Amino acid sequence: MSNKIIIINGPNLNLLGEREQSQYGSITFNELKASCIKKSKELGITIEFCQSNVEGEIVNLIQDSIKKFDGIIINAAAFTHTSVAIRDALSIFKKPSIELHISNIYKREEFRQKSLISDIVTGGIFGLGSDGYILAIIAMQKLLKNEN
Ligand code: DQA
Repeated sequence: MSNKIIIINGPNLNLLGEREQSQYGSITFNELKASCIKKSKELGITIEFCQSNVEGEIVNLIQDSIKKFDGIIINAAAFTHTSVAIRDALSIFKKPSIELHISNIYKREEFRQKSLISDIVTGGIFGLGSDGYILAIIAMQKLLKNEN
């Protein structure tokens, strides 16, 4: 089984634990990263966990993932609702991809209820808090198993 995945986090997710705890909980970015790494090790998956506030850097990460990774889990944060460039990059990635949101974007402001990537990813998880990351890793492991 190929088992290298990248978890890409978009703008302001580096401030988890400080920002809008009612939406995103109290877990910090580093704690979240540590729990994802722990879960991946248990499942025999290698992960890279990254974050950028810069749209073009996220596009570069997705492009580089085509050769380097077997799956992408992405919380594109605010860029979910605005970035055609991130959508286009994800469309080029032909392996499994999972869209992730900590909050339920469909219960929030109208501008968040539109995702530019939902229709091109393999599947999505939203509204389940930071546990969504762990669930996404488990789901990705199954997707990769089925591919091989
Ligand atoms: C988010 C939801 C987005 O609307 C928001 O801009 C974020 C985080 C989430 O994880 O719930 O930054 O992607």
